[in-house]
Amino acid sequence: MNKNTKNLSIFKFFKNSKKFSIKWSSYFQVYEKIFSEYRNKKIKFVEIGVANGGSLLMWQKYFGKKAKIIGIDLNPKAKKLEKNGFKIYIGNQSDKNFWDNFYKKEGKVDIILDDGGHKNLQQISTVHYSLPFIRDGGKIIVEDTGTSYIKKEFNNPSRYSFMNYAKNIIDNIHRRSPLLKKKLSFYSKKIFLVEFFESIVVFSIDSKKCFQNKEVYNKAQNEWAIDYRHNEYFGKLKMKLDRKYGLLNKRSPLRRIIRKIFYRNLIFNILDNIKIKKIFKELEN
Ligand SMILES: C[S@@+](CC[C@H](N)C(=O)[O-])C[C@H]1O[C@@H](n2cnc3c(N)ncnc32)[C@H](O)[C@@H]1O
Repeated sequence: MNKNTKNLSIFKFFKNSKKFSIKWSSYFQVYEKIFSEYRNKKIKFVEIGVANGGSLLMWQKYFGKKAKIIGIDLNPKAKKLEKNGFKIYIGNQSDKNFWDNFYKKEGKVDIILDDGGHKNLQQISTVHYSLPFIRDGGKIIVEDTGTSYIKKEFNNPSRYSFMNYAKNIIDNIHRRSPLLKKKLSFYSKKIFLVEFFESIVVFSIDSKKCFQNKEVYNKAQNEWAIDYRHNEYFGKLKMKLDRKYGLLNKRSPLRRIIRKIFYRNLIFNILDNIKIKKIFKELEN
């Protein structure tokens, strides 16, 4: 076991839990990073996937007495754990009706952690149906997202894998940029931040921070800076042509042609893509 992990309080609670639990060893450092701010606070924490209750006991110790710890499982035997001070709901995480009833009873929650069935529909349903009911400042965490790459049992990789859904959410939150000229969606209005760890994805919810972006200026003058983005290639040649033919003269028809060739033309893309391809190859190896 990694030395740093051994010293984490969450790991100690895991090891000393009176009931059986299995977690991946890298998860504890992630838990400390994303959960430490909620310790000893009055929060509602929900875990999907209760099994023997080992992790529920770990969360109970970690978050402290003020936290309400709720478990969800398809297995009716999990109900027994209510005598340990948890609220247990029996139901299917892929079922919209289950979530409707759950949130009708519980109202908004702070954190929901999915350690349930790990299939695409199960993980996606957790995020989709829970998103409206997470308090600002809260999180949705999906564990074992490595299943998005596994064929056996999980039918992945697939266009509809959980990780592809998560990547779509990344695209979606970019709608907050006016440059995209797209309407804000329910996702882009709620999810402020997405973090990817190995086999864990964390969505941080904060509707107050999810506004349509805009450019802001300070009071100083722009003295000399112009964007040299398009001068990366053939910069010197452009300057020469400019001096000779007045390329920068706005009325020059040549300017339009040159701009097309140098700015919006395929040439740049082709030259860039040759370099990018090499980098992608290294990434994929
Ligand atoms: C990996 S175990 C949970 C382990 C537990 N969190 C721990 O660390 O000790 C997965 C649990 O998810 C439950 N589960 C599987 N599919 C489910 C579904 N569709 N809805 C709710 N629970 C489900 C299983 O019954 C099982 O108890």
